[in-house]
Amino acid sequence: MTLREAVLQALKEKKGEWLSGEALSESLNVSRTTVWNQIKALLAEGYEVDSSPKKGYRLCSPPDILSPVEVGPGLTCKVFGQTDYLYYQELDSTNNRARVLASEGYPEGTVVVADMQTAGRGRRGRSWYSPSNQGIYMSVILRPVLPLKEISRISLLTAVAVAETFEEELNLPARIKWPNDILINDKKVAGILSEAVTDMDGIEYIVVGIGMNINNQLQGFPGDFRTAATSARAEDARPVSRVKVLQGLLARLESHYLDLLAGSFEGTLKKGKSLSVAIGQELRLDTINGFLVGKAIDIDENGFLLLRDQSGIVHTIISGEITI
Ligand code: BTN
Repeated sequence: MTLREAVLQALKEKKGEWLSGEALSESLNVSRTTVWNQIKALLAEGYEVDSSPKKGYRLCSPPDILSPVEVGPGLTCKVFGQTDYLYYQELDSTNNRARVLASEGYPEGTVVVADMQTAGRGRRGRSWYSPSNQGIYMSVILRPVLPLKEISRISLLTAVAVAETFEEELNLPARIKWPNDILINDKKVAGILSEAVTDMDGIEYIVVGIGMNINNQLQGFPGDFRTAATSARAEDARPVSRVKVLQGLLARLESHYLDLLAGSFEGTLKKGKSLSVAIGQELRLDTINGFLVGKAIDIDENGFLLLRDQSGIVHTIISGEITI
C-alpha cells in the first residue's frame, strides 16, 4: 500500500469524523508536512477532504472515483481488471488508449477507465459526451480465439451485460437497440464502440468501449442526433455510485464473455433477443451501402439482425443503424 492509500484508508475508517494530523503522522510514522502533501494529492485526485488547523482532516462524502483503490476491493472478476486496471482522471478517449496498449501487447482483460474524456468517440464518427465524474467511460481489451464470423457475438454480449447492469444494479428497465445502443424509456443511456484488429489468422484483439450516462444532468446534453439521451439519474432521480455500477458491469461482461469462450452463447443470445426493441418492429436500417425498410424478425446465433424486406426477402445484417 502506498502512503497516499494508507492516508486514505485511515480517513475512511473515521467514517466522516475528524482525524488529527498528529495522529495520522504518528500512526504512519511520517512528518505532518508529508501527511499534508498526501492530502493535497488526494484533493488533486478528486477526493473531498476538509482540513482544519485544530481538528485535522476528514473525508467529506463517500468517494465516487473510478480509481483502482475504490473499484478494486469490490471487483469480483477473475480476469477483467485484475492484472491491468489503468485509471486516468482525464483522457482523450479510453478506446484510443486501449488500442495503443493492445498494440503494445497488453493482455486480455486489461481495463482502461477515465473519469472524463476530452475526445470521447461514438460510432460513425460521432463524439461521446464525457463530462467529468458523471458517466462511466471504460474500455476493455479482449483477445478471443474465435472465427471472424462470430465477432458480432462480442457486441451482443456487451449490450446484454450493459442492459443487465442498469436492470440489476439500478432497477431501471434497459433495452437493447441493436446492435450497440442501450435505451431506457426509448432514450439512449449508453453506447458501445467495439474496434477490432484482425489478420489472416483471425482476431488479433478487440477493444470494447462502453459509455454509460449515470449521474448526468440533462441540461446541455448534446445527445445523439437520432435518439434523445438520458441518464440513470434522470430516470430515477437518486444519485448513483459509479463505482458500484462499474464493478457490476465488469462482472457481467466477464461472465458473458467467459461463457462465450466456453462455447455457451445460448443464454446470452436468448437474453439479448428478449431485451431487443427491434425484433417484431417495422423499421428502417441504414448501412454504409444504403438503406433497407422492413420488419426485424430475429437475431441469429452470430448476433446478426434478420430483416424481412417488403418483397419478403430476408436479409442478414452484420451492422447498421436502425430507426423504428
Ligand atoms: C455510440 O453510441 O456511438 C458509442 C459510444 C461509445 C462511447 C465509449 S466511452 C468509452 C469509450 N471511449 C470512447 O472514446 N468511446 C467509448
